Amino acid sequence: MKEIERLIERAKQVRANAHAPYSGFLVGVAIKALINGKEETHLGVNVENCSYGLTVCAERNAVASAVASGMKMGGLEMVVIVAESDHDTTPCGACRQVLLEFAAPEAKIVIYNEKNCSYRLFSLLDLIPEPFLARNL
Ligand code: THU
Repeated sequence: MKEIERLIERAKQVRANAHAPYSGFLVGVAIKALINGKEETHLGVNVENCSYGLTVCAERNAVASAVASGMKMGGLEMVVIVAESDHDTTPCGACRQVLLEFAAPEAKIVIYNEKNCSYRLFSLLDLIPEPFLARNL
């Protein structure tokens, strides 16, 4: 099985654990990261709260898991996002910026839609052109 298909399966599986009782919109994410010279997979789901603004997206939860395991800037190689919608679910603006903080130059963003069981591939610069980066500081 290709790496991308393996990550899609992991993201589909974890999506079932999303805590989204308010929106009913379940998102699952699987990321591939190079951590201390080893490839690791980390997972995330969206976690909503009855105080709606405290919701954290699946992408940021997956990144937090990888960082806790030791991911550094440049370690993020692939991000697979699975949702189900008439319109493909690309990450929100906040998540794009957080993904960029850790992304390798060639990082791939895979948007998989359970509605039509197909995916589209992006680079982060497709999604966030002219970004604000650490080098700007
Ligand atoms: N959501 C994500 O987790 N990731 C995305 O890429 C888009 C939106 C979540 C946040 C909220 O729990 C629900 O989807 C509806 O916005």
